[in-house]
Amino acid sequence: MSQIRKCLFPAAGYGTRFLPATKAIPKEMLPVLTKPLLQYGVEEAIASGCETMAIVTGRGKRAIEDHFDRSYELENQIAGSSKEILMDEIKDIVNNCTFSYTRQRDMKGLGHAILTGKILIGDEPFAVILADDLCDNSDNDGVLSQMVKVYDEYQCCIVAVEEIDKKDTNKYGIVAGDMISNNIMRVDDMVEKPEPKDAPSNLAIIGRYILTPDIFGILKETKPGKGGEIQITDALLELAKQGKVIAYKFKGKRFDCGSVDGFVEATNYFYDI
Ligand code: G1P
Repeated sequence: MSQIRKCLFPAAGYGTRFLPATKAIPKEMLPVLTKPLLQYGVEEAIASGCETMAIVTGRGKRAIEDHFDRSYELENQIAGSSKEILMDEIKDIVNNCTFSYTRQRDMKGLGHAILTGKILIGDEPFAVILADDLCDNSDNDGVLSQMVKVYDEYQCCIVAVEEIDKKDTNKYGIVAGDMISNNIMRVDDMVEKPEPKDAPSNLAIIGRYILTPDIFGILKETKPGKGGEIQITDALLELAKQGKVIAYKFKGKRFDCGSVDGFVEATNYFYDI
């Protein structure tokens, strides 16, 4: 059995790029076709062996809790009709895994959101999925499943990376280090959203991490970095300096659903498959 049993979902952000849609609806609940972004992430986590979904929410995010719960009235309404099948996937998810929640009161960055989730994770290695990075999980070898295999071998923090256009380095955490094989790098440098001229490479972190619990102690001491926020990239650099971070060039497709363009691209892609 995999050692990664819990997946943390930071989901407290405002989603301002999708206003007005995100005025009353959490951005994680925006649907690609008929399924909310967060459900894609949860399905990827389940496929990788996780049983507990630890969700860091914030004000105005109650729709997330309602989505991952029974809905007796609705179930009763469509029982025996042709629509019943449309609820099968979500019912299966609700019946087979545990959801736990905590609220992030102040938005102080991704590192702070992950630290807020400590209460739900405890002292064990765990996965992190940023639901607005949507990865295609349809061939059952999702990005997180691939990363769990890498973790089993290296037993340290793993970040998923992909090559990007050098002009876009200021949108991502960027890693550099030594390639151990054609898709695995031992990381020795990490920078949050550097300008292209300062970027140590064009390998960008996407929203999939496996973290060891020592990250929490480091996050507690991590000072605000880029944008005045506590950055997971800065905390991971401490571990990278000790040789404890692996970057994994994943196989598969990923869409940046934090942007309108990426969202449209994902919608077209999932409509066509
Ligand atoms: C966060 C991380 C960044 C990473 C990105 C992946 O940034 O801080 O290092 O590359 O997620 O999506 P955000 O997109 O939340 O600004």
